[in-house]
Amino acid sequence: MAEAGSPTILGIESSCDETAAAVVVGGTRVLSNIIATQDELHERFAGVVPEIASRAHLERITPVIEESLRRAEVRLDELEAIAVGHRPGLIGSLLVGVSAAKALAWSLNVPLIGIDHIHAHLYAGLLNAPAPPYPALGLVVSGGHTSLFLVHDPLRVELLGKTIDDAVGEAYDKAATVLQLGYPGGPKLDALAQKGDDRSHDFPVAVLKDADLDFSFSGLKTALLYAVRGKPVGRGAAARFERDASSLTAREQADFAAAFQRAAIAALTRNLRRAIDRYPVKTLLVGGGVSANTLLRARLADFAAEHALDLRLPERQYCLDNAAMIAGLAALRYRRRDFDNLALSASARSIAGLPPQKRCQEPFS
Ligand code: KG4
Ligand code: ZN
Repeated sequence: MAEAGSPTILGIESSCDETAAAVVVGGTRVLSNIIATQDELHERFAGVVPEIASRAHLERITPVIEESLRRAEVRLDELEAIAVGHRPGLIGSLLVGVSAAKALAWSLNVPLIGIDHIHAHLYAGLLNAPAPPYPALGLVVSGGHTSLFLVHDPLRVELLGKTIDDAVGEAYDKAATVLQLGYPGGPKLDALAQKGDDRSHDFPVAVLKDADLDFSFSGLKTALLYAVRGKPVGRGAAARFERDASSLTAREQADFAAAFQRAAIAALTRNLRRAIDRYPVKTLLVGGGVSANTLLRARLADFAAEHALDLRLPERQYCLDNAAMIAGLAALRYRRRDFDNLALSASARSIAGLPPQKRCQEPFS
């Protein structure tokens, strides 16, 4: 049942390939968190196909919302606002969630709150937890984004650095494709790397200018590709390689995975070290699918302990795309009576200061 005095908000998320709905009370108490993944639909393409994603959202959105209300034991007429991730993302996918949210807000006569998906990832570690001290550093590591923020307060974020090419999750997925681990690759590579020797290969950590807080992962991806498959003959899609990962032993495959991870995570922690020297923060907020990664979580815990930071690593169910983070962040907007109207649009771009959606795990071969 909804608690009196604190907003009971239904959150909706459909920016990429997860159809999600959640009911959150008072910004932090998650009553339900329903996520319908589409992995089985995109697996054979090794990436998200936008047309397939939006059609699947259409089929799933109503049952997912109904299930979130049922699990929360909240009736429609108890909802005080509808929040929706309306940017950035795949337009066709976003439109499904935005349309559902508008229809609900209009018919229930409650406020509509449009939330930025990347901004919401930074809020995921605040669910089911007391508020941390600010300012904070915020790191979003997902399939579409790798961004570092200075978080003045939960509603005021300033972009410090972003990837200039691939996102770290995208690099994980592509590395997993090169190693023939299947889709989605991140979790599979994570598990395999734990059996490998991370010093078996010395993969590059992109060297950007000293002061730079941007990231780059495409060089790492290419270094792994060449190490596994040999030198390419020809260019682009016509390139042919000397071999593929099927000739690797299980041991060699695990070694490649471990060495890839060491370089990918070193790139993330290097920029955190650069940022902490410049900004006297008290908290480290982390979010996005890659924050589920075992080694990254351990490295971030070390980093936070070293710098006496309040580390907010989301529970694993809130690392990946979910609607609880959308409804949670929306509660802060609700308290300021900062609402949207029915003209709210879906956008592939993020708010000023946040980077645009580069891609959402495009198919890769
Ligand atoms: O945040 P998210 O669900 O979607 C986007 O907003 O992009 O992140 C998905 C990404 C995928 O690239 C996936 O492979 C990666 O997060 N991922 C992981 C792990 N779990 C998910 N990467 C590394 N290790 C993991 N355990
Ligand atoms: Zn995401």
